[in-house]
Amino acid sequence: MTRRIILDCDPGHDDAMAILLAHGTPEVSLAAITTVAGNHPLALTTLNALRVCTLAGIHDVPVAAGCAAPLVRPLFTAEDIHGKGGLEGHEWGEPSVRPVPEHAVDVIVDIVMSAPGEITLVPIGPLTNIAMAVRKEPRIAERVREVVLMGGSFTGGNVTPAAEFNVYVDPEAAAIVFGAGWPLTMLGLEVTRKAAADEEVFRRVSALDSPVARAVVGMLRFYQRQQMSAVGVSAPPVHDPCAIAQVARPELIPCREAHVEIELDGRLTTGMTVVDFRRRGGVQPNATVGVDLDLPGFWDLFIGALRSISGVV
Ligand code: RIB
Ligand code: CA
Repeated sequence: MTRRIILDCDPGHDDAMAILLAHGTPEVSLAAITTVAGNHPLALTTLNALRVCTLAGIHDVPVAAGCAAPLVRPLFTAEDIHGKGGLEGHEWGEPSVRPVPEHAVDVIVDIVMSAPGEITLVPIGPLTNIAMAVRKEPRIAERVREVVLMGGSFTGGNVTPAAEFNVYVDPEAAAIVFGAGWPLTMLGLEVTRKAAADEEVFRRVSALDSPVARAVVGMLRFYQRQQMSAVGVSAPPVHDPCAIAQVARPELIPCREAHVEIELDGRLTTGMTVVDFRRRGGVQPNATVGVDLDLPGFWDLFIGALRSISGVV
């Protein structure tokens, strides 16, 4: 059955790959795309979402801009990874897709309340919009089908030794989201670092020989250079599409139940997702946490989606 999702994102290169994967995967239907400040300020993450929608021919999905800053802390961005424009590596024209005037938080609340049990929220940036939505309308916690998010880590962070970027930027929002009581799946860095684009992936995408595929290769080559200089890896990890893959093909990402809390006050550990798999002391799980990735299956899904968007049979 097709899973209707709201994709909340901060494009960013891997967010762009997630939008394309969602659009090109028949098991997933985009009910809305919402944007949040994260990798870049809100105006740029929104422009980049419109650019990707224009490139992929996504004209029937509402795109709504959301929160321009974290709930409490100042915005922390990631130009070192995604470059100044946020989607470097491709020459972007003016987008033909325009945003809707409604705020992302209102779009999320309205769609979820109008379709009880149907909508999966898929946040792949800081959780500011999702936290604001459940604060504005707490009933969405029992009306969403599930929250499947890219964020967090139980094997060390990427911004600090303890904290992953999406949670680090807005840890208070993450605490609200993990404490809301809805079905929640967390796909952290231990899963998403495995989604590395190696030369075989570049070859397979290039072989599609379409405008979308050429844009993806250009973006991933830029992202590869940034990851090499910032992190020292030659095969860049595309974190965000893992969330779409888990919705479309849960078997690709085995998960385990855990109790997850967010550190808000640690001198060295603020933004850490403290993941407890132990089931001790009567502590109940509040999330399922990804623990592995079927990498060939993931890339087959991704290439298949690009092929479908490219019109390549
Ligand atoms: O830590 C990886 C996450 O941070 C991804 O969502 C990437 O786009 C950045 O937002
Ligand atoms: Ca992101």
